[in-house]
Amino acid sequence: MSKLDLGVLISGRGSNLQAILDAIESGKLDARVRLVISNKKKAAGLERARDAGVPTSVIPHKDFAQREDFDRALVKELRDAGVAWVVLAGFMRILTPAFLDGFPHRVVNIHPALCPAFPGVDAQAQALAYGVRVTGCTVHLVDQGVDTGPILAQAAVAVRDDDTRESLAHRLLVYEHRLLVTVLQWIAEDRVSIEQPSEQGERPRVRVRGVVPVIGLAEEAVRAEPARRG
Ligand code: GRF
Repeated sequence: MSKLDLGVLISGRGSNLQAILDAIESGKLDARVRLVISNKKKAAGLERARDAGVPTSVIPHKDFAQREDFDRALVKELRDAGVAWVVLAGFMRILTPAFLDGFPHRVVNIHPALCPAFPGVDAQAQALAYGVRVTGCTVHLVDQGVDTGPILAQAAVAVRDDDTRESLAHRLLVYEHRLLVTVLQWIAEDRVSIEQPSEQGERPRVRVRGVVPVIGLAEEAVRAEPARRG
């Protein structure tokens, strides 16, 4: 089986990128990261890539008058590097068809909520503000919307009464790293297929052969202290 050739787009910290690099290093993920691109020069994730000996590139979106021109520049670099699948790992730009048509159904995003709940920025704070008891993270294919693409897999995480945005984000991140690496390995094993809709207006559906595409579940929620009597 040939290795999955990945390109990873980042804008910041890069802990999901690190999870990918670590999983490759330990043999859990049958992939190669061909290129890491950041739209921000100071993204900490760039250093993580360099430490792992992975080529990096900085393409500031501000250098382009049109979104499409920025997107086309990304596609060119990724293609030149031999990338087959693209991972958005904390990449804070919305991609246009100029990008998505370059990698049809081959762009994956990790979002820190159970889609379709809480799309966009600061999903953890949105979940706390709403008062949900279960949130989680979603790995999905990217379409033109914000966190709206076909869902590959989800992990559920209980929200605690004393959670802050930071504590919840921290707990979610552990599951994000697990889920992202797990899904990428399914792609490497050729378990993932996309069914195009037969009716207009229907969403494309993802099939994942041989696994249940859910991890985590809310086991934490039932592990509460017994209530004291009297
Ligand atoms: C993660 O919470 C991810 O779900 C969201 O952006 C954050 C990126 O974190 N899309 P990192 O840069 O991977 O540490």
